[in-house]
Amino acid sequence: MLKISVSKSFNGKKIIEKAEFRAEKGDFVCIVGESGSGKTTLLRMVAGLESYEGEITFRGEKIDRKSIGFVFQDDRLLPWRTALENVLFGLELRGEEESISKARKVLELVGLKGFEDHYPSQLSGGQRQRVGIARALAIDPEILLMDEPFASLDELTREKMQEELNQIWNREKKTVLFVTHSIDEAIFLGTKVVVLTGIPSKVRGVIDISLKKRIRTSDEFIEYKKRVFELLSPQSMF
Ligand SMILES: Nc1ncnc2c1ncn2[C@@H]1O[C@H](COP(=O)(O)OP(=O)(O)OP(=O)(O)O)[C@@H](O)[C@H]1O
Ligand SMILES: [Mg+2]
Repeated sequence: MLKISVSKSFNGKKIIEKAEFRAEKGDFVCIVGESGSGKTTLLRMVAGLESYEGEITFRGEKIDRKSIGFVFQDDRLLPWRTALENVLFGLELRGEEESISKARKVLELVGLKGFEDHYPSQLSGGQRQRVGIARALAIDPEILLMDEPFASLDELTREKMQEELNQIWNREKKTVLFVTHSIDEAIFLGTKVVVLTGIPSKVRGVIDISLKKRIRTSDEFIEYKKRVFELLSPQSMF
């Protein structure tokens, strides 16, 4: 289990006030909250890239950085490396043969078979995001952190990527923390939605999602949307 109970200040200004939530193994936790509520900072703290007050533990222990895969909002691919070479980046300390076959396998998993030798400039935005996801999956992380990975994609590509990510997660059952501004995306993907509100931000509520079917127009889906929106909305009045 991943346990988070943290506060964070920058230059004496508190931005997160005792944010607390948990993720069981295989949970897909979506974090929503207005801009500036500390979502990226929270992921960076879990990844060990940012200091914090409080505790973050995985199976009762401090998190080992090696067990973390991070997918950034901007794809952060190296432009001078091909898709395959970008995926190999995180694997470079392993044996070469093993790494190349692993990198090919994850590229296939994200639907990029045949694009291994393309440079980022030769890929579409959605394909670049897939390389970013493949790179994070390649190291076989126990915890996958994703910071608005689909924010820059058009609606249709975004929905397609959500479907694919859902399938990958169903297969791999990683523990995922996924930041998004889209309530729809959070409910479609999440087993839990954590709502952050206020300044400094607190966890306003955690909603467990259990959809019979992943259909965005269904009554149960819309009911969840209302619940998330209600938790978010008092703050959005200002
Ligand atoms: N390195 C830093 N130094 C000082 N303040 C910072 C730093 N990083 C973030 N902040 C501040 O912390 C707050 C939270 O930032 P963060 O990037 O975590 O927000 P966010 O929820 O990810 O926002 P968005 O939805 O716009 O991406 C903001 O007010 C930001 O200005
Ligand atoms: Mg952010």
